[in-house]
Amino acid sequence: MKGRIFSGVQPTHGLHLGNYLGAIRNWAELQAAYDCIYCIVDLHALTTVHDPRAMHANTREVAAALLACGIDPRRSVLFVQSNVFAHAELAWILNCVTPLGWLNRMTQFKEKAGKNRENAALGLYAYPVLQAADILAYKAEYVPVGEDQKQHLELSRDIASAFNRAFAEDFFPLPAPLILDATARIMSLRDGTKKMSKSEASDMSRINLTDDAEAISLKFQKAKSDSFEGLAIDEASRPEATNLLRIYAALAERPLAEVAADHAGTQFSAFKRELADLAVAKLAPLNAEMRRLMADPAQIDAILADGAERAAAIALPVLEEVRAACGFLRPTRG
Ligand code: TRP
Repeated sequence: MKGRIFSGVQPTHGLHLGNYLGAIRNWAELQAAYDCIYCIVDLHALTTVHDPRAMHANTREVAAALLACGIDPRRSVLFVQSNVFAHAELAWILNCVTPLGWLNRMTQFKEKAGKNRENAALGLYAYPVLQAADILAYKAEYVPVGEDQKQHLELSRDIASAFNRAFAEDFFPLPAPLILDATARIMSLRDGTKKMSKSEASDMSRINLTDDAEAISLKFQKAKSDSFEGLAIDEASRPEATNLLRIYAALAERPLAEVAADHAGTQFSAFKRELADLAVAKLAPLNAEMRRLMADPAQIDAILADGAERAAAIALPVLEEVRAACGFLRPTRG
């Protein structure tokens, strides 16, 4: 028996190289060793996105990106959160065992709510409880997440324990984080001290998964350089060189130190050309597959419909047990 993995990604427009190397590629690799359930979390996105057309389009776009990057719907379950109602119902039940004090400690809520906390939506506050419900509805054992989600995952463990204590000993396994490789922290091509982000103004700062070969090549060739001789890893004084070496190593799937040693004497401009060629070779096929899928929404929708059915087949029996543990009277006729 392989262990079960659950992870989620919000349906946002503009997935980029940082998302790919930092998370999505690992999701694809994990399929070899685990039973994987991957969820496009539109209910979570609703905490910030109130634009139905964007929600609709972004959900398909993210599905296409995941499929193009190697999530295999025959091996794994890929589905949309709102298609499986167990998430919302379990979230409510977990709300009832989660103390406010735990939610008050969540740094992401504080950041997202900002100064105007009185106007922040209840859903934003309860966001991590829904995340716990996502994981626990499948009794998942492992959750691949980035550093930024560590606190939410610890909370999921605490919520699972709280439910177990209140209703049924050892009912939920405590999900363990699989923290994704921190060396895959990809920075902006315009400023090596800032994370690559869809919200940075200049599109030249990032490689989008929707960029074609020409755009990928151009962006690497125009990436910010420094004026030292050769290439070297030096976080403090050479953030751009460090970032480009990291990207190279990640794309080539080679140890960073080895890539750096190989390029200690390479000119920056020559290195950028080499990196551009490597990136095009690795990313252009993904881009082409993503475009093909986006042009065939019926295929995406069919894959997601199948995924939702398979997800529900796992989550509903768990939810039934949860309802029974809570003492809910089930509808029956004598
Ligand atoms: N909050 C996660 C993020 O923004 C997305 C997410 C929702 C998730 N539910 C999850 C991640 C369950 C892991 C497990 O990245």
